[in-house]
Amino acid sequence: MEPRGSAVVTGGAGGIGRAVAEHLVRHGYHVVVADVDGDAARRTAEEIGAAAGVCQDVREEDSHRVVAEEALKHAPLAVWVNNAGVGNDGALGDLPSAAVEQLVQVNLMGVLWGMRAALAAFGPAGGDVVNIASMSAHGPVPGLSTYAATKAAVVSLSSSVSVETPKNVRVHALCPDGVDTPLVEAMSDHGRAKALVHSGGALLTPEEVAVAAVGLIGSSRIVLSLPTWRSVLMRFTSVTPSVSMRGERLFLWAGRRRMRGTRS
Ligand SMILES: NC(=O)c1ccc[n+]([C@@H]2O[C@H](COP(=O)([O-])OP(=O)(O)OC[C@H]3O[C@@H](n4cnc5c(N)ncnc54)[C@H](O)[C@@H]3O)[C@@H](O)[C@H]2O)c1
Repeated sequence: MEPRGSAVVTGGAGGIGRAVAEHLVRHGYHVVVADVDGDAARRTAEEIGAAAGVCQDVREEDSHRVVAEEALKHAPLAVWVNNAGVGNDGALGDLPSAAVEQLVQVNLMGVLWGMRAALAAFGPAGGDVVNIASMSAHGPVPGLSTYAATKAAVVSLSSSVSVETPKNVRVHALCPDGVDTPLVEAMSDHGRAKALVHSGGALLTPEEVAVAAVGLIGSSRIVLSLPTWRSVLMRFTSVTPSVSMRGERLFLWAGRRRMRGTRS
């Protein structure tokens, strides 16, 4: 396969990031797996045949420049996937301040810094930035309000920056519904967030998300939601949240039923 340039995946040691990194390797990219867990990043890189695994905390602006330099050692930068994220669940009034801060710093500031580093590192051929946002960006998600707000900001940012950049630099936001990863597993079994995440039916697999993420590369699509029908529903609830969220009990019931089913 003809080499396609280098690609960076933040938070790439596990979950969706690992699946995206693996898919990019299969497509011929020289992939740099970056993660706050440096040992896991190096292990993943070795297991999937990536070019390098490096320790990076996306909250630190300078770390993105260092990761970009690592990618440029292997080939011109072609793809940057802002995937690192945390899923602290809980109502805004109940979340510890540190958890609120972490959500904003990792899920929003981490993407902002990553985008700036990628835009600075792309050569004359340009490239693609893929931001892993979330279905929660499209409407109200009680129990996951701060997380959803960071993801809505990522979608907004992606749309605006995609117009600011030259034509050969494409910016995409991928908005998956619930995905079967440690992020969802770590949510409280008794909270609203986990039940709502499960209310759309079977969780997506990281591989399904990876296929969609890599499919965006080179395309003019800015926002892609997985599955589309859930984003239509979410957008509808965001128009009249107080009215449409009266149906929340139904979603919670469906989600809890699904959670019980997956455990038995
Ligand atoms: N799982 C879902 O249901 C779901 C749905 C939609 C969107 N997403 C988004 O997909 C992305 C990946 O989530 P996931 O489900 O694979 O989660 P995950 O917890 O399995 O993986 C997240 C990875 O990010 C890394 N990370 C956390 N903080 C970091 C930091 N400060 N710097 C660098 N790396 C850091 C973790 O070490 C981990 O390897 C996140 O942005 C998440 O919000 C997840």
